Amino acid sequence: MVDEEWTPAGIDPTKPNVARVYDYLLGGKDNFAVDRELGEEILRMVPDAKEAGMANRGFLRRAVRYMVSEAGVRQFLDIGSGLPTQGNVHEIAQELEPQARVVYVDNDPVVLVHTRALLENLDTTAVIMGDLCRPEEILENKTVRRFLDFDEPIGLLMISILHHINDHEDPVGITETLRAALAPGSHMAITHFHNPGPERPEDEALALASEKQFNERFGTGRWRTREEIMAYFGDWELVEPGLVQMPAWRPDVAGRRTLNGVFQRVLGGVGRKT
Ligand SMILES: C[S@@+](CC[C@H](N)C(=O)[O-])C[C@H]1O[C@@H](n2cnc3c(N)ncnc32)[C@H](O)[C@@H]1O
Repeated sequence: MVDEEWTPAGIDPTKPNVARVYDYLLGGKDNFAVDRELGEEILRMVPDAKEAGMANRGFLRRAVRYMVSEAGVRQFLDIGSGLPTQGNVHEIAQELEPQARVVYVDNDPVVLVHTRALLENLDTTAVIMGDLCRPEEILENKTVRRFLDFDEPIGLLMISILHHINDHEDPVGITETLRAALAPGSHMAITHFHNPGPERPEDEALALASEKQFNERFGTGRWRTREEIMAYFGDWELVEPGLVQMPAWRPDVAGRRTLNGVFQRVLGGVGRKT
C-alpha cells in the first residue's frame, strides 16, 4: 500500500484516481483508502470488474507477444501504462527479445514514481509524464525520441485509456496524430469499454450506469459503440480476429473463453499500418 503520509507533489490522497483504483482491482498495493472504497463501489455495480481487469492484462500480454514474435516489433510506446503490476510490457517483450525497448507514458505522478523505482538500471526502458490529450508533446519528447526509432515499426499500446478521454478532447484526432507519426509495420493495440447499444438493453443500461458512476467519481469515462472504437484504427488493417471481446483475441489456452457479463462490454483489437 502507498504510505498515506507520503505523497508526491500534486497528489490529493482524498480523491480517487483511475490508476490506483485499477491497481486495487488487480490486487495491487499502490492505492489509498479512497481508491479502495471506490473499487468496492465499482465491484458492487459490476461484480466481475476484477476478472475484467485480469482479462485486460491477458489481452495486453498476448498483443505484445504477438507483436514481438509474429510482427517483428522491437519497440513499444505504452500510453496510459498504469502502475507497475505483474507482467509489465518490458518484461513481456524482453522475455522474447531482450533488446526490446519500451517507453511508458502516463499523466499520473504516482505512476511515474513507482515505474521509475521498478525500472532502475534498465537502459532499454524509460518512463515519462505525458498527456494523451497532447499527443504532439509525447511524440516530440526527448526520451521518447532517444529510446524509439520512428523509422522502424513501433507497437503503440493504448490499453484501457481511450475511454478516459472525453469526446470534446477529440480521441479520434489524437489517434490519427499518433498513427501518422509511425512507420509502416507499426501496430496499435486498444482495449475500450463497449456500449452495445439498444439491441442489448440490459448491457446498454449497465454501460450507461457505469458511465455515470465513472464521470461522477473520476470526471471521465465513455462506453463507446463498436463503430466509435473502430474509428481509432482509421485505415489500418485489423489483425485477425479483429475487434472482439478481450478473451477471444487469440486465446493462448484453447477453449478458454469466458464471455459473460462485463467481458461483453470491453473490446480489444490490434491494427497494423501497411
Ligand atoms: C485503467 S488504467 C490502464 C493501465 C494499463 N494500460 C492497463 O491496461 O493495464 C488507465 C491509465 O491511463 C492513465 N491516464 C488517464 N488519462 C490519461 C491521459 N490523458 N494521459 C496519459 N495517461 C492517462 C491513468 O493514469 C491510468 O494509469
